[in-house]
Amino acid sequence: MKQQVTVIGAGTMGNGIAHVFAMKGHLVHLVDVNQDAIDKALTTIERNLDRMLKKEAITQEEKAATLANIRTFNELRPAVRDSALIVEAATENAVLKAKIFAELDELAPSKAILATNTSSISITRIAAVTSRPSQVIGMHFMNPVPVMKLVEVIRGYATSDEATRTVMEISRNLGKVPVEVNDYPGFVANRILMPMINEAIYTLFEGVAGVGEIDTVMKLGMAHPMGPLQLADFIGLDVCLAILRVLHEGFGQPKYAPCPLLVNMVAAGKLGVKSGEGFYFYRPDTKELEVSPNFKRLTT
Ligand code: CAA
Repeated sequence: MKQQVTVIGAGTMGNGIAHVFAMKGHLVHLVDVNQDAIDKALTTIERNLDRMLKKEAITQEEKAATLANIRTFNELRPAVRDSALIVEAATENAVLKAKIFAELDELAPSKAILATNTSSISITRIAAVTSRPSQVIGMHFMNPVPVMKLVEVIRGYATSDEATRTVMEISRNLGKVPVEVNDYPGFVANRILMPMINEAIYTLFEGVAGVGEIDTVMKLGMAHPMGPLQLADFIGLDVCLAILRVLHEGFGQPKYAPCPLLVNMVAAGKLGVKSGEGFYFYRPDTKELEVSPNFKRLTT
């Protein structure tokens, strides 16, 4: 069923989510307070559609229809009016999300499902600021959204069967594979992924092997498309650190403690791809992977 869907936040995840909904014929209201972010998101969506066009995965008409399905807003009120589903993909910050969900509860139609793309903040906690916790749910897409098949559908403590069924079906209609999980720190995806990434960082920190060596072991030995250090750069080292802190605090177990090297890199502003440097050094003109000079010095 084609519906009006509001996507909050025009960053990497928000623009990917808007892209897949619009491509399946939904009318997408993409909202961000920052007009620059919206302009960038539209450029990114068009570039990714062109990539699909070039591969003949979509036609010129489908590209045009997808772009025509997206309307942009700087304010929540007009963007959520009449929407059946809201997917929040704003910055990963519990205070900000609580503020957005309190506003959504007031502004969105009473039957609307309020979903969040949070990668680790408790759905139950977010739902608790609304008067409709049974309609609040996690809809965790993976980056890059147009490519990755998974949607982790997270049931908060009070999420209803009906809201869960609806979100599972909407996800299937997007061509994704939804998996239902319960609301505990890191859910399933990040509870398993982040300790692996953290262990890879410890392996580097302790001098067991260099950046390229660690990633090559995992790429060629375990058939991962990216090594864990490259993946950490791709996700954002600040995001990895924030998720590890949620796991560490949520379970109270030392095994989730973030590696001091990760803490240091984030403090130094080395956040991975988005800052131009993390474990690797990123040049705009090449896709070639170059280990950051910092780690070349450590390992040679
Ligand atoms: N939009 C549309 N298509 C895209 C795209 C995008 N943004 N990015 C890549 N693609 C397509 C390419 O066109 C290409 O298509 P074909 O297979 O049809 O040729 C395909 O994806 C592969 O892309 P590339 O050839 O450019 O590059 P690649 O082979 O190196 O693959 C990758 C890139 C898909 C990102 C791959 O490296 C990969 O799967 N990496 C792991 C990604 C991952 O683990 N994501 C989850 C991160 S965790 C997360 O998101 C959640 C969290 O809470 C932290």
